[in-house]
Amino acid sequence: MDQNKIQPQTDTYQRPVLSLRISITNRCNINCFYCHHDGIIPQEYEMETSEIERIARVARNLGINKIRLSGGEPLIRTDIIDIVSRISALNFQDVSLTTNGTLLEDYSQKLKDAGLDRVNVSFDTLNPNTYKFITKSNYLEKVKRGIKKAVEVGLYPVKVNMVVMRGLNHEEVWDMFQFCKETGAILQIIELLKTESCPDTDFFDDYHYDIGIIEDQLQKQATKVKTRPFMQDRKKYFLQDGEIEVVRPMDNTEFCKNCTRLRITPEGKLKPCLLRNDNLVDLIEPIREGYSDEELEKLFLEAIASREPYYGQC
Ligand code: 5AD
Repeated sequence: MDQNKIQPQTDTYQRPVLSLRISITNRCNINCFYCHHDGIIPQEYEMETSEIERIARVARNLGINKIRLSGGEPLIRTDIIDIVSRISALNFQDVSLTTNGTLLEDYSQKLKDAGLDRVNVSFDTLNPNTYKFITKSNYLEKVKRGIKKAVEVGLYPVKVNMVVMRGLNHEEVWDMFQFCKETGAILQIIELLKTESCPDTDFFDDYHYDIGIIEDQLQKQATKVKTRPFMQDRKKYFLQDGEIEVVRPMDNTEFCKNCTRLRITPEGKLKPCLLRNDNLVDLIEPIREGYSDEELEKLFLEAIASREPYYGQC
């Protein structure tokens, strides 16, 4: 059977479910103060390699065609190459990974060989002091080498995720753009987001920066602007010498309207919405109890049926 022909499932708001974001660990080797931990409240247990593969297979059979592995930091799992190989053997259209880049120099080639298509690297600043302030670590140069290596081995595209924060790095967007251009990566600027799982501090009021201001500048310089449907209508600005993508999820009904994503927490719960933790659907107990793939599909369908736009009506 050509798996690309499987019709995607659609929720009650007519949103097709096309991608699955699997958080494979909550652990991370750096500690960014603003991190929303992918909307997940940490638990102890982590799914096993075979459980991750099983969940991906069920997702594939339901017409989900994209997988993204995230964390915590996915590259600190010692079975990461095995996980990527097993998932890419399932023939998804796109298998990607979000990483902080600290281990990318060592892992890029192995990931490519295991079948990974592309990576997003969370990287907010080129300034060593700011990097240290944000991450409580000194990995800046290592991450830069990691990004270069990822491009070199042919992971494509390599995107740099830059969360823009007022007074910290909001004046660095053009330097970062320059770095990405020289490296062969694509810059994606992200507006700071507050979620239930964010650290409980005043960081949001202190650092939130309206990236509409940057978008206005981009708009003036752009030779072309593209809106990406099924990607929360994210905008891509084409400039004379490169491109910048913009992620602005704040209070945005459009964000929800175009959401085609389900998530899995590290302990194996389906999470229908980034911004909620009260409607998770457990898959691990059922897997341990010996549920068949068909029974697991039903649990997926239950989660899909419960999907509602967080920001108002679609
Ligand atoms: N606001 C916006 N983006 C965030 N990320 C993590 N926490 C936040 C937040 N509070 C982004 C990081 C990373 C991706 C996994 O999530 O930039 O690239």
